[in-house]
Amino acid sequence: MASMRGEIYRCSVCGNIVEVLFPGEGILVCSGKPMELLKEKSEDQGMEKHVPVIEKTGDRYKVMVGSVPHPMEEKHFIQWIELIADGVVYRRFLSAGLKPEAEFCVKAEKISAREYCNLHGLWKSK
Ligand SMILES: [Fe+2]
Repeated sequence: MASMRGEIYRCSVCGNIVEVLFPGEGILVCSGKPMELLKEKSEDQGMEKHVPVIEKTGDRYKVMVGSVPHPMEEKHFIQWIELIADGVVYRRFLSAGLKPEAEFCVKAEKISAREYCNLHGLWKSK
């Protein structure tokens, strides 16, 4: 099946993560194996919360992960947060020790968010 714009793939061998910017017909391969398509999850289970929560304050959108702040440790942290505002993608990369949140100064009608946890994968807002 052909890929779609915005899909994110991970290499289970070397850990490379790539995003499809313009889809072609081919299969994405890395380290000699087909890459794994990361499914966007939106239902939290258990204690840890991953679903992005969007809060609007004035002309800013704050995206938090999640309803209870997600850990930001060396071995387990949120690698990036995206805001999709009227189809335009804004992305902030994070590292261990930072807060699991990002602020974006943008005007838009239609807002959604995605985030990536290095252990638990890709999540989207409801
Ligand atoms: Fe996690």
